Amino acid sequence: MARSIISVINQKGGVGKTTTVINLATALAIKGKKTLVIDLDPQGNATTGLGRSNNNEDKSIYNLLIGKTSIKKVVQQSSVPGLDLIGSNVNLSGLEVETANDANRAFLLKEIIKNDLDGYLKRYENIFIDCPPSLSLLTVMSLVAADELLIPLQTEFFALEGITQLVKTIDRIKINLNPGLGIRGVLLTMFDKRNKLSSQVDSEARNHFKNKVYKTVVPRNVRLSEAPSHGMPCLIYDKKCAGSKSYINLAEEFINQQNQSLGSAA
Ligand SMILES: Nc1ncnc2c1ncn2[C@@H]1O[C@H](COP(=O)(O)OP(=O)(O)O)[C@@H](O)[C@H]1O
Ligand SMILES: [Mg+2]
Repeated sequence: MARSIISVINQKGGVGKTTTVINLATALAIKGKKTLVIDLDPQGNATTGLGRSNNNEDKSIYNLLIGKTSIKKVVQQSSVPGLDLIGSNVNLSGLEVETANDANRAFLLKEIIKNDLDGYLKRYENIFIDCPPSLSLLTVMSLVAADELLIPLQTEFFALEGITQLVKTIDRIKINLNPGLGIRGVLLTMFDKRNKLSSQVDSEARNHFKNKVYKTVVPRNVRLSEAPSHGMPCLIYDKKCAGSKSYINLAEEFINQQNQSLGSAA
């Protein structure tokens, strides 16, 4: 089956998770792959970056998780044709405390998705979950719901330090909650070829994660950081800039991975 649920995860903030979700999902939608983004960060940056309000309670992942609405009702179109969104708002930050007595809360998102996979969600080839910068309940929920993980790594000095902890968490989730979980790929972001550190992190990451590291590297590019304030993906804001080009290349690599795994499954 081609459809995959991919969590974009790294407990560090500011490493390019949201930028990657927005622009990879956009590139896939432009290539005709129907795609859904689930914004699981209370800050709602993926929501606003895709041109939608992060003040919309009715259409929020929070209302879905507390059972106040359904997938069909909560999904909205983003500013990109073929790319839909389940948005987030600040209420989501209360979920952890509110569900403290629910022993199964790590499964909340998985159950909702699983119960619908042959329903409304069937139309999507890819479902991306944008995670908050923490290893809190929300991130655990996304690790439990996902088939695969995409890990953005900022090419800077401490990049690999937090990864040990992340890998440990992933291993624990695999043993206890989601045995099928795998790493789809590791993406190097904010690469600066004038900076020796960038190349150093690049080779360390490739030593450690081998062929899991995408050949495509996302450069540090000011257009990528400007686009969200215009409520649009960089790929729409300036499709010719180096940042946009890198996400188009990433989408191609990503699709090839899908084709390869289909080939080996046949
Ligand atoms: N390749 C890049 N080049 C320049 N700025 C970037 C790049 N990727 C992300 N940014 C900017 O860096 C900040 C953090 O990125 P973001 O994607 O929000 O990270 P995260 O979701 O991991 O917290 C944002 O302001 C974003 O616009
Ligand atoms: Mg983010």
